[in-house]
Amino acid sequence: MATFAKRTHTCGALRLESTGTRVTLNGWVDVRRDLGGVIFIDCRDRYGKTQVVFNPQNNADAYQLAKDLRSEFVITVSGVVEKRPAGTENPELPTGMIDVLADDVQILSKADTPPFPIDDSVDASEDIRLKYRYLDLRRPELQRNMMLRHQLYQLVHAYFNERQFIEVETPILMKSTPEGARDYLVPSRVHRGKFYALPQSPQTYKQILMVAGYDRYMQIVKCFRDEDLRADRQPEFTQIDVEMSFVDESDIRDLTEGLMQRVFKEFKGVDITLPLPRLTYKEAMEKYGSDKPDTRFGLELGCLNELVREAPFKVFSDNVKRGGVVGGFVVPGGASFTRNQMDNLVDFSKSLGAGGLVYIKWTETGLESPNEKFLGKELLERIATHLGGKKGDLVLMISDTWTRAYTFLGMLRLEMARRLSLIDETRDALLWVTEFPLLEYDEEEKRYVAVHHPFTSPHPDDIPLLDTETGKARARAYDLVLNGTEIAGGSIRIFDQTLQKKMFALMGIGEEEANRKFGFLLSAFRYGAPPHGGIAFGFDRLMMLLTGMKSIRDVIAFPKTASAVSLMDEAPNEVDEKQLRELHIRTV
Ligand code: AMO
Repeated sequence: MATFAKRTHTCGALRLESTGTRVTLNGWVDVRRDLGGVIFIDCRDRYGKTQVVFNPQNNADAYQLAKDLRSEFVITVSGVVEKRPAGTENPELPTGMIDVLADDVQILSKADTPPFPIDDSVDASEDIRLKYRYLDLRRPELQRNMMLRHQLYQLVHAYFNERQFIEVETPILMKSTPEGARDYLVPSRVHRGKFYALPQSPQTYKQILMVAGYDRYMQIVKCFRDEDLRADRQPEFTQIDVEMSFVDESDIRDLTEGLMQRVFKEFKGVDITLPLPRLTYKEAMEKYGSDKPDTRFGLELGCLNELVREAPFKVFSDNVKRGGVVGGFVVPGGASFTRNQMDNLVDFSKSLGAGGLVYIKWTETGLESPNEKFLGKELLERIATHLGGKKGDLVLMISDTWTRAYTFLGMLRLEMARRLSLIDETRDALLWVTEFPLLEYDEEEKRYVAVHHPFTSPHPDDIPLLDTETGKARARAYDLVLNGTEIAGGSIRIFDQTLQKKMFALMGIGEEEANRKFGFLLSAFRYGAPPHGGIAFGFDRLMMLLTGMKSIRDVIAFPKTASAVSLMDEAPNEVDEKQLRELHIRTV
C-alpha cells in the first residue's frame, strides 16, 4: 500500500495538451523561488523539470507547506496543469509552456544543503563531486552521459546479436595470467597462500571459447588493471570484447567498421566514410610520432637523416651514423615566437626526456638558429624547405634513436597543436594502425615482451625473423584510433601450440613456466583449435569521445580517482583482523 500519492506523470512529460488535468508529480525540489506571496518550485526527476506554483488564493494549506520546501527535498505534489501566463513561458524547457497549480504537497524526504548546486555550471572540485557522487549523478550532464551509455549498450548488443554473436560471461575470479599490466589479486580463504586474479581482459577465455566451437563471441565486460592512471584510464573499465573463428584481419575490420558506422550515425548523426584510413605502425610513427595519431591537424613530421648525415653538427651526424633519426616538423607562423616561448619549448622537450630541441626560425631577415654556427645558413634553408617550411615559420628538430626521436616529436606536435588551437574539434578522425611490432625489448627486464599480448600471431612473412631479428618481426595486430585515443585493439591469434610455445620462449618464458601459467590454453590447442582473432573496444573511452568529455570518469557512474580510490565509499579500506586471519594474511 502506497503511503504517498504516486506520480501520474514524470517531471518531463506534461505539455499544453494536459491543461486542466489534475496530476501528481514525484521528484526533487530543484529550486524554490518565493515571489512575494506566490512560491514557485521546479520539481525535477531524470525525465525533466516541471514548474509548480503554490498560490495561497488557490490553496492556503499547500502554500503553507511549500514554505518549508528546500532544494533537494523529495516531494509528492498534486495540482492542476495550467497554461503559463503569456510572457512567462520557457521555450528552452519541453515542459516550459505549462505549470502545475498545486493543491497538495507532501515532503517524502528532507535534504541537507548540498555541498554544490545540482546544475551543469558546477565549479566544485572533482574530489567533492566524487565524494558526493549521488548528487553529482543528479546533474543533467551526467544523467545524459549515463543515458547515452545505456543506449550504447543496447546498440552494441543489437549489432552483434544481428550477426549471430552470442554473449558469454567469463569469470571475474581467474588465474593470474599477466597481460602487461599488474593484476589485482584476491586471496583464497580455502586454499591457503593461493590467489585469484581479476581479469585484465577475458583474453584466454575468449580464445578457449573459440576452441569450444562458439565461433562468434561478444561480451560487455569489466576488466581490471593495476596500472598508473590517466584521464583515459581507470583501474576497472569496460570492454566490448569480441572473438571470431575462421577469420582474418579483413573480417574483424569489416565488423568493427560497421559498428563504428552505426554508432556515429546514431549518436552523432554523422555518416563516416568506409573503409577507414589505415596506417602501418611505421607510417604512423614516422608521420605523426605516435601509434595513436591525431590526424585532425597537420604538423606532419619529416626525416632529415639524408640532409644532415655529413653535417658538421656532430649531434646530428653522429646520431644518423649510429642508426638514429633526426626528424622535425614545421610550425606555420612560428617564427614570431619570442625568446621566452622558445626557451619554454626547449624545456618542454627536455621534460619529455629529449636531449634537446634544435630549431630554425625563418624570419623576414632570413633563417636563424642557435645552432647556425654548426649547421650553416645553406643547410638551415635546405632543412626548412625539405620539411615544407617558408618565411614566417618555425622548424623544430629532435635527434635520437628512431623510437625516441619520433615519440618526442609526436608529443611536441600535439603540444604545439594544443597551444596554437590547431585541433579541429568538430571533426572525428577514425583510423586503423596496423602491423605493430610483435615483441619489444624491455631494458628493465632484459627480455622481449609482447607489444600486444603473448597470444598475437606473428606476420607470416616475418616468422623467419623471429630467431634472427626478433624485434623486427611484425604482429597481426591492429588498433582503432579515434581523435588520438586508442579505442580498440586486437589481433589474429596464434592457434598452434608449437608456435605459441616458441613465442613464450622468445619472451624468456621457459617451458615449465609457460605450462604453469598458460598450460590450460596450450592444452586446449591440442584438441582442435580453429584459426581465430578478435578485438576489444574500450567502452568508456568510446563513450568519453562520443559525449565530448575530457575524462572517462565523466561517463562512469562510480569511477575511481587518479590514485585508484573511490572517494564515496572509501575503497580500498582496511579490513578486520579476523578477515585477514581467515585469508592467512598478515600486514606489515
Ligand atoms: P587492450 O589491452 O588493447 O586489448 O584493451 C582494449 C581496449 O581497452 C581500452 N583500455 C582501457 N580503457 C580504460 N582504462 C584502462 N585502464 C584501459 N586499458 C585498456 C582501450 C583499449 O584499446 N584482450 C585484448 C583485446 C584483444 O586482443 O582482443 C585487450 O584487452 O580502449
